[in-house]
Amino acid sequence: MKALVLAGGTGTRLRPFTHTLAKQLMPVANKPVLFHCLESIADAGITSTGIIVGGRGDDLRRAVGDGSRFGLEVTWIEQREPLGLAHCVMIAADFLGDDDFVMYLGDNIVSGGIGQPVKEFAAGRPDVLLMVGPVDDPTAFGIAEVGADGRVLGLAEKPAVPSGDLALIGVYVFSAAIHRAVRSIVPSPRGELEITDAVGWLVEHGADVRAHVFSGYWKDTGQVDDLLDCNRELLRTLEPVNLGTVDVGSELVGAVSVAAGARVTGSRVTGPVVIGRDTVVTDSRIGPYCSIGDGCVVSGAEIADSIVLDGASVRDVRAIERSVAGRHSRIGGVPAGDSARRLLLGDGSEALIEP
Ligand code: DAU
Repeated sequence: MKALVLAGGTGTRLRPFTHTLAKQLMPVANKPVLFHCLESIADAGITSTGIIVGGRGDDLRRAVGDGSRFGLEVTWIEQREPLGLAHCVMIAADFLGDDDFVMYLGDNIVSGGIGQPVKEFAAGRPDVLLMVGPVDDPTAFGIAEVGADGRVLGLAEKPAVPSGDLALIGVYVFSAAIHRAVRSIVPSPRGELEITDAVGWLVEHGADVRAHVFSGYWKDTGQVDDLLDCNRELLRTLEPVNLGTVDVGSELVGAVSVAAGARVTGSRVTGPVVIGRDTVVTDSRIGPYCSIGDGCVVSGAEIADSIVLDGASVRDVRAIERSVAGRHSRIGGVPAGDSARRLLLGDGSEALIEP
């Protein structure tokens, strides 16, 4: 079994962050979304992993390296234009050969990993096993119609009139049967070769396509609110650990993780909160549900339910919530108000409010 991770695409819905960072490298609980995905692949016992990359390939290569830190052997596959999920399978044909493989969308987080569907595929040997889960808005996803016996009867990509609420959740297990299917379809009205159409082609041609209904937490981190939601969810299982320095004037409440080199003075941190390496927190109230990256400065600040990326500074700020501060961005001088404020700041941006 191999893995194919899709980390190309444009990430337009996550602007301004994706002007300068691949969406798969946005951190959740201080770890890029893509790393969560690579860890799940390694945990499922898979080693050989192809990663599809587009315009931000160099950043992704730098971040992942040769994959050995995850226990993976990584093959990089360039996609010149984001022509669709089925196009990714087409250009990975040489890497995949006739092997079974898990296709994992590199912007999805699936809590609890992918071991179960991989086992189910190995035991039942269908042509395709799709991971599906119920969603509130079926028009925003690929939707599968599933029979009582778990067989997939039909599929539609972001249907205007959905036949049900079971969405494809970004993890697909394929046999080599998918290769003929991806070569047999034409681009959709949005101009992409849809994997949903390729699997639909297999269903129409009598293939054994099954669904694994997933009841755990998963998220497509396509938008800022999804990232923050995911951040909250992953922080819920955070183990408290203090590898940094916390002075006697500070209080850590609940699950707080302080990385090596970080310093917390005169502050109250209410978990779950993760504080990255070499970050300095002074006279602040942080949490719950905050991920503060490496090398940040948080001083005289009140911040909750937010993600602060590496090198950012947050100073003299009252009641910031549901915010994301890009790498090396600066937030300052936000006065106390009646309600919490929300800021979404791209890499290197400044929001400095004069009194
Ligand atoms: O999140 C689940 C949904 O993901 C499914 O329900 C849909 O059926 C499926 O089509 C997909 O929809 P999205 O519109 O969310 O796909 P997105 O364009 O965000 O691409 C998913 C991942 O694949 C993302 O990491 C970018 C990467 N990608 C995408 C395209 C179109 C590529 O690497 N190459 C591509 O050509």
